[in-house]
Amino acid sequence: MGKIHPIGDGRLLSSSPQDIKKASISLRKGDLVAFPSETVYGLGADATNDLAVAKIYSAKGRPTFNPLIVHVASVEMAQRYVIFDERADALCHQFCPGALSVVLPRKPESPLSLLVSAGLQSVAIRVPSHPVAQRLLRACQLPIAAPSANPSGAVSPTKPAHVVSGWPDHGRVGPDFIIDGGACPIGVESTVIDLTTTTPVLLRPGGLSLEELEKHLGPITRASPNNTAPKSPGMLSRHYAPETPVFLNATRSRPGGLYLGFGSIDEQPAFNLSPAGDLSEAAANLFALLRHMDSLNAKSISVAPIPARGLGMAINDRLARAAATNDGQNYLT
Ligand code: TXA
Ligand code: MG
Repeated sequence: MGKIHPIGDGRLLSSSPQDIKKASISLRKGDLVAFPSETVYGLGADATNDLAVAKIYSAKGRPTFNPLIVHVASVEMAQRYVIFDERADALCHQFCPGALSVVLPRKPESPLSLLVSAGLQSVAIRVPSHPVAQRLLRACQLPIAAPSANPSGAVSPTKPAHVVSGWPDHGRVGPDFIIDGGACPIGVESTVIDLTTTTPVLLRPGGLSLEELEKHLGPITRASPNNTAPKSPGMLSRHYAPETPVFLNATRSRPGGLYLGFGSIDEQPAFNLSPAGDLSEAAANLFALLRHMDSLNAKSISVAPIPARGLGMAINDRLARAAATNDGQNYLT
């Protein structure tokens, strides 16, 4: 404790027991703590504390109609806040902890801040498997509301340095602490599935593949993006966006632009999501590579085609949003 972190930011904590304790005390006071999960870093606050949850919205510049995922240590803990039916029970016992967020009806007596639901009657619940997230949840004994730890509209952070770069100025509302858990192993956000309807609806493809989910749930409806009344506002088309224009399904770079490859290519480009053509590796590298390439001030980033199976669905979803032209709707998480 108290030692200078290699990134040189006083807000950084290690994942030692003492630092986890410090972070949990800070959360219990109503502060914001960024923490690693297996998907991306989250910007956490006590989900039962209105003021703390409100700080998340202001730190991110996030519209208050966009609800937050509530992280809990276990499925048993989730049952205090939302109503589980048999289908939800079976699904969570199969996939929790993991890269899955399940939208379920809020219990009327739930102590969660109404702000996490952003006016809906539901709550998205997630049990992260990352050991640091688990230790933090168990130390603070709270449900933690946490969106991805980036200012609204930016690419989600998969390393502590990405979180730091989102709020470089200590004076602005941002994370009071950032727990360093290294790089996030999955690298894309959780899959969000709505179980408040008769047929489950996929609100966001993510780190748990649709194929895996359908094996257990049967057919899942895919929500279509609706820019006027989003059911899951993260579905708005432009999101996860770098500043540099992004072009998809490209076989080479454009003049003055960069190329982001996938798989083995005759002439290896400088940047490759996975030279071996492995989708898990590609997901883990996606946001860090987009951030890095975005920082090089090139005219464009052209990206190789990515197969649509498994994690490729989430990768293609994020790439499509990164490539969407900004139509004034760039106001999301
Ligand atoms: O992997 C993740 O999911 C990360 C880590 C930190 O857990 N979190 C994350 O949160 O990506 P965020 O806020 O960036 O995205 C949450 C998505 C948004 O698209 C939001 O609209 C949707 O989940 N969501 C949250 N609560 C919902 C609800 N009650 N009904 C429908 N959609 C909901
Ligand atoms: Mg986000």
